[in-house]
Amino acid sequence: MILAGMADHEPNKTMVRRNFAKTAAGCGLCMGAGLLVTACQTTQTVHAGIAGPGGKIIIRRDEFAANGSPNMLVKHPKSRFPISLLETEPGKFTACLMSCPHQACETVYTPKDYVCPCHGARFTHYGEVTQGSATKDLMRFPASVSATEIRISVG
Ligand code: FES
Repeated sequence: MILAGMADHEPNKTMVRRNFAKTAAGCGLCMGAGLLVTACQTTQTVHAGIAGPGGKIIIRRDEFAANGSPNMLVKHPKSRFPISLLETEPGKFTACLMSCPHQACETVYTPKDYVCPCHGARFTHYGEVTQGSATKDLMRFPASVSATEIRISVG
């Protein structure tokens, strides 16, 4: 699903390399994490694997809380873009792929919305486009919550 959704994008290879280098430099110890995630202190980005036959990324709630922000970027091993996991209200989460549907720049979280730095598109925290150049919403994944985990369905 995650790869199919990105197939209509022409990836910005410069941005991808820059983001990878930044993430790799800040998260060298995070590489190779198992099914659960390890937080990167400098970028608030976590690396995750897919668990189970349903294709879920699992984030521990205590790890999310330690992030110190309502937003956490989750790197997916099969995606060049992170997923923004956002707690919109206590115990309610949204998960949006940070790939702008216009020309595949990486969108950025703000406390008010998501913004694309390339041509100014804006999206709600639920991924709905509110301003062009994009005309489509961000790809969104279901997120379910238990007492100890947040599960993002990407399968
Ligand atoms: S790539 Fe995002 S608005 Fe153009």
